[in-house]
Amino acid sequence: MEQRTAVVTGGASGLGEACARRLAADGMGVWILDRDGVRAVGVARSIVAAGGRAWSAEVDVADEASVTKCAARVAEETGAPDCLATAAGVLESVASVLDVDMAVHDRVWAVNYRGTVLTARAFGRQMRAAGRGSIVTFGSINSYAALPLPAYCPSKTALMRLTEMLAVELGRHGVRVNGVAPTFVLTPALQARVDAGERDLSRILAVSALGRAVTPENIADVVAFLCSDAAAAVTGLMMPVDAGYQAVSTYTGFPGGVPWEG
Ligand SMILES: NC(=O)c1ccc[n+]([C@@H]2O[C@H](COP(=O)([O-])OP(=O)(O)OC[C@H]3O[C@@H](n4cnc5c(N)ncnc54)[C@H](O)[C@@H]3O)[C@@H](O)[C@H]2O)c1
Repeated sequence: MEQRTAVVTGGASGLGEACARRLAADGMGVWILDRDGVRAVGVARSIVAAGGRAWSAEVDVADEASVTKCAARVAEETGAPDCLATAAGVLESVASVLDVDMAVHDRVWAVNYRGTVLTARAFGRQMRAAGRGSIVTFGSINSYAALPLPAYCPSKTALMRLTEMLAVELGRHGVRVNGVAPTFVLTPALQARVDAGERDLSRILAVSALGRAVTPENIADVVAFLCSDAAAAVTGLMMPVDAGYQAVSTYTGFPGGVPWEG
């Protein structure tokens, strides 16, 4: 791991920050890319203070010029990255498709979907030229199920298809592309929704087969695995990290009742 570098978008907070810290602890040099440049500097500094290697850059993943400029800087300073984790993203309030504010809709797609396309293109080209690399996209339980988040849910479903397409396009060039599909994780973004009364913490635990919350570090562990040589034969996969959310949701939805204490 000593010479390897990783790029983490959204690395200044939540799941991206946990991934950045985990990859740095594994010995990788880590770029923290985030729209919040101040927090990105703070995370990079604390990784360096803990003995790791880290750099930061302010970037808006939805802005092609911003991503292109940042990717060129990364290539110039540390070369093509070995790993890219695209954690930059925004959540959404519950709404119906018929009533969603289209400005909100378009922003969610711009950051979550377009932002992933732009960063995967910019760094995927560098990885293709280098003949090696691993990309991990950020899906969600929304990648697999219809939930009442009219822009967020389809954007995460589209990301699963995009992940498969990139895996096929880049596979023969030595680049693997996978995703993680987390259940609800109490990050600053989700905490803000809970505080606003938009998400119910007790309901979140009720849809965990394990009866426990999933932590940012749980997600980072899987991202680290997907980036590692231990996953050398794994590509095109959107891996649920959901404490059994999918299984519980369908099982408890059985119309004849279920023999489960919960
Ligand atoms: N928290 C959850 O429950 C959960 C569940 C499933 C998937 N996810 C996904 O995980 C990812 C991270 O979410 P989180 O909960 O850690 O959120 P978070 O808000 O804690 O962190 C997201 C980071 O992305 C950055 N960001 C937002 N827009 C950006 C942009 N345009 N350009 C660059 N950076 C930008 C923010 O500044 C922030 O630092 C998102 O893609 C989210 O959809 C989260």
